[in-house]
Amino acid sequence: MTITEAPETTAAPTSSKATKPSVLMCRPEYFTVSYRINPWMHPEDPTDTSLALKQWDVLYETYQNLGFDVQLIEGLPGLPDMVYAANGGFVVDGIAYGAKFHYPERGPEGPAYMDWFREHGFDVREPVETNEGEGDFLLVGDTILAASGFRSDTGSHQEIAAIYGREVVSLQLINPSYYHLDTALAVIDPTTIAYLPSAFDEPSLAILRERYPDAIIATEEDASILGLNSFSDGHNVVIAERASTFARDLADRGYNPIGVDLSELLLGGGGVKCCTLELRS
Ligand code: ARG
Repeated sequence: MTITEAPETTAAPTSSKATKPSVLMCRPEYFTVSYRINPWMHPEDPTDTSLALKQWDVLYETYQNLGFDVQLIEGLPGLPDMVYAANGGFVVDGIAYGAKFHYPERGPEGPAYMDWFREHGFDVREPVETNEGEGDFLLVGDTILAASGFRSDTGSHQEIAAIYGREVVSLQLINPSYYHLDTALAVIDPTTIAYLPSAFDEPSLAILRERYPDAIIATEEDASILGLNSFSDGHNVVIAERASTFARDLADRGYNPIGVDLSELLLGGGGVKCCTLELRS
């Protein structure tokens, strides 16, 4: 009698977890740094819009090569930060909760994004409370992690909970360099996150440690080039090229890190995730 052993599986163990997300992006045609609303921004220094466009194009192509459905919203003159689409709202279950920006410089972006959502068939909810969309709200599995501290008000945490009927976990950011949640925490798959501990206050840290004991802990070095500001489909994780420890940690766990260089957009205080708003129907 011959015993045939089952062949060893060589496929990457987590590849089956990859999804094909729908995302919204905005070409940085009008990108520049003309005001200062976060410590990364230095209006006195020049920016290179054509380089920003070139770098952004690589991100756009990367998503297309991964099979994502990439939608585009037209940028508007006078709104240099509109490229950071993540702040344009929060979209789950076909419902788009609109953004209401903390700083007046970005105020008109809220209605511009809501118009796009409406025109594309989303059920738009106009915000009462100040909130900066997916900059401060991240969906992990069925739970919404919601931050405040610099931009979104805690009132928006209640507002978003009422809209979606999902669990909302409030977190407090304490370092002005990591002023949005997506600069300090990355969602890798429905049960896995990566974060920078020093960006959160103690009670928030206690929550993160308890809920995500196996989280990837980012280094200060990687976070300081907005390395955590990344976008994952559950297997492929698009990250800042220079975030080398993060890339290694992801690869060690069976994910596929893909590095891109958005150095020009970093001058506005944003990276990969900031340029990406997920549209969940
Ligand atoms: N200059 C923009 C601001 O300060 C950058 C936004 C980055 N976006 C993000 N999702 N973190 O509002």
